[in-house]
Amino acid sequence: MADLGTAFAGLQLKNPLLTASGTCGYGRELAQLFDLSLLGGICVKGTTLEPRLGNPPPRIMETAGGLLNSVGLQNPGVEKVIEEEMPFLRQFDTAVVVNIAGHQEDDYRLLAEKLDAVPGIAALEVNISCPNVKNGGMAFGTQPETAARITSLVRRATSLPVIVKLSPNVTDICEIAKAVEAAGADAVSLINTLLGMAIDVEKQRPFLANITGGLSGPALKPVALRMVWQTYRAVSIPIIGMGGICNAKDALEFMLAGASAFQIGAAAFHNPLAAPEILAGLDQWLDGHGVAKISDIIGAAQC
Ligand code: SIN
Repeated sequence: MADLGTAFAGLQLKNPLLTASGTCGYGRELAQLFDLSLLGGICVKGTTLEPRLGNPPPRIMETAGGLLNSVGLQNPGVEKVIEEEMPFLRQFDTAVVVNIAGHQEDDYRLLAEKLDAVPGIAALEVNISCPNVKNGGMAFGTQPETAARITSLVRRATSLPVIVKLSPNVTDICEIAKAVEAAGADAVSLINTLLGMAIDVEKQRPFLANITGGLSGPALKPVALRMVWQTYRAVSIPIIGMGGICNAKDALEFMLAGASAFQIGAAAFHNPLAAPEILAGLDQWLDGHGVAKISDIIGAAQC
């Protein structure tokens, strides 16, 4: 069996597969289907200071090759996550990454301070890229200055590894990646969803109550892969790649482009067993190609 381990940003993962934030809540549903300890990591739902109900429905729809969501960061709030979700997650031998989201810049500092000493958290993923909220969210991740300011607030507030989750809804993702690297990010994860919309032709109105939403799923993969490729050339910090990964071949593409790890999201909605299947596929591919360690292929396609 090949060695699927990957080490980056002070993390040592048993394999490079993490679940993407917002696609498996806090792991309770997936845990009924397979042992979460199989995962390299689990990245939990975007967590805010206060509980949020999210946006009104309709807030999710299937599109050609993708999924459009305007959930709006529904979550129980950081205190409940610490008290109720973390004890559940600590049962598993997997890296727990807490995705944090704020409506004001200082929210990120407060969240990082609250989570810093909570046992069982491997890293924070700083969400400056949610396209579905009125205050904050993606607005923080589209300007290098704001992205850098939030990164350094979090950096100063925690000793945990800081991963900044980037938005594709920018002219140049490399500019944002460089800004957060300079501000102290240990890694970047990319990409969050692409801003989109759908129209109900019978009602002649936008389908989503929020009008716009974020597109994820296989339709996104070539765009996400291109951004991982470009970001790898622009920064020295490690990258967690995501966007439409459905199988082992997709995951290999992201790692060959330069990702040290990858996240799967929408794939688990149509195949909840996607994670264990992808891990088996990676193992098979590496063995079949005589590659002893998956870390040897990181960035190998870069010319
Ligand atoms: C949402 O809850 O609206 C999605 C979260 C995100 O895109 O970061």
